[in-house]
Amino acid sequence: MNTARRLQAFGQTIFTEISHLAVQHDAVNLGQGFPNFDGPDFVKDAAIDAIRSGKNQYAPLSGVSGLRRAIAERFTSRTGIDVDPDGNVTVTSGCTEALASSFLGLIDPGDEVVVIEPFYDSYPADIALAGAIPRFVTLVPPHFELGEEMLRAAFTPRTRAILINTPHNPTGRVFSRDELQLVASLCKEHDAIAITDEVYEDLVFDGSHLSLAQLDGMWERTLTLSSLGKTFSLTGWKVGWAIGPEALTRGIRAAHQFVTFATATPIQYGAAAALRASRPFYDELTAAYRRRRDLLTDGLRSLGFEVFTPEGTYFALADHTPFGFPDDVAFARHMVADIGVAVIPPSAFYHHREDGASLVRFAFCKDEATIECALERMTKLSS
Ligand SMILES: Cc1ncc(COP(=O)(O)O)c(C=O)c1O
Repeated sequence: MNTARRLQAFGQTIFTEISHLAVQHDAVNLGQGFPNFDGPDFVKDAAIDAIRSGKNQYAPLSGVSGLRRAIAERFTSRTGIDVDPDGNVTVTSGCTEALASSFLGLIDPGDEVVVIEPFYDSYPADIALAGAIPRFVTLVPPHFELGEEMLRAAFTPRTRAILINTPHNPTGRVFSRDELQLVASLCKEHDAIAITDEVYEDLVFDGSHLSLAQLDGMWERTLTLSSLGKTFSLTGWKVGWAIGPEALTRGIRAAHQFVTFATATPIQYGAAAALRASRPFYDELTAAYRRRRDLLTDGLRSLGFEVFTPEGTYFALADHTPFGFPDDVAFARHMVADIGVAVIPPSAFYHHREDGASLVRFAFCKDEATIECALERMTKLSS
């Protein structure tokens, strides 16, 4: 046992097993959360130009200025909040690093952090890295709503932060103004900060995305995290950012400077070009993802699944229990080995695994032919 005690609980996950099985059985992969199509040429060309024109040495700690400006302008145009690219924006190596650096730079050992479950799998590990204590709030099917009673009960005098992901992986919820208002009022009541993960901010089909920082009195206590990967189908680029008031920006930078110091320079030039994309790019993105969502969810329903229609993200949760398997892991193993479709068992996203045992997560960041092929294979499922 050489792994540090604080990380031992997070050993190898079921995802590694499913990925191996997917390769072994040549499965259609609706498990992994990355597109099977490529990002736009204008973005790739900007990164290639940067490499060829010698933008290949360390970037400044906070990110190259053109990218920070593009991040600030896009945020301002969406939220109406005036953002200073120098004092309020930090470029990170994906949202994953932004999350880790936020926790390491802003949370002390023993602090409590309110975290919504099902959660993105790095959250509990980040909380553990910081030596903090998670307080879970569980979203319950079929509506996966943030209820006042549960949320209020999770806040205590030791609460330092709440971590909110909207649009939410894996439920597909886009939290409403009322739900976020509740979060805001509890943060103010308990003098807590909010760290928001908004990596799916451009993948919204029903309702509209609202940043917690937009609510009254929340800018000064919110660090808004996002990244390039999902919107621009470039998940391997790992460019993310944090936007927040100077005090919180100082915190994340204090850790970021020792975690990675800076993010790959030419890729930041590509990211700056991406963030200057105009309206039609976003309209086409949403329309294409809405088609994929509907194709998958309609298909799953006709196969006998109860599907929880996602309002956003590129994931859909469904209830697999009509097919008679004891839990999500047994169902996922059957799917990959016998049906030839890889899916994710969501119990790994809950601290009480049984809370996710009836669910299965499908990713629809795949071209329509791939989704159709998966649905065709699933006709072998019998309920
Ligand atoms: C909710 C959520 N946050 C963060 C990430 C990671 O983002 P990045 O690739 O920018 O590190 C993901 C990726 O799947 C995610 O689903």
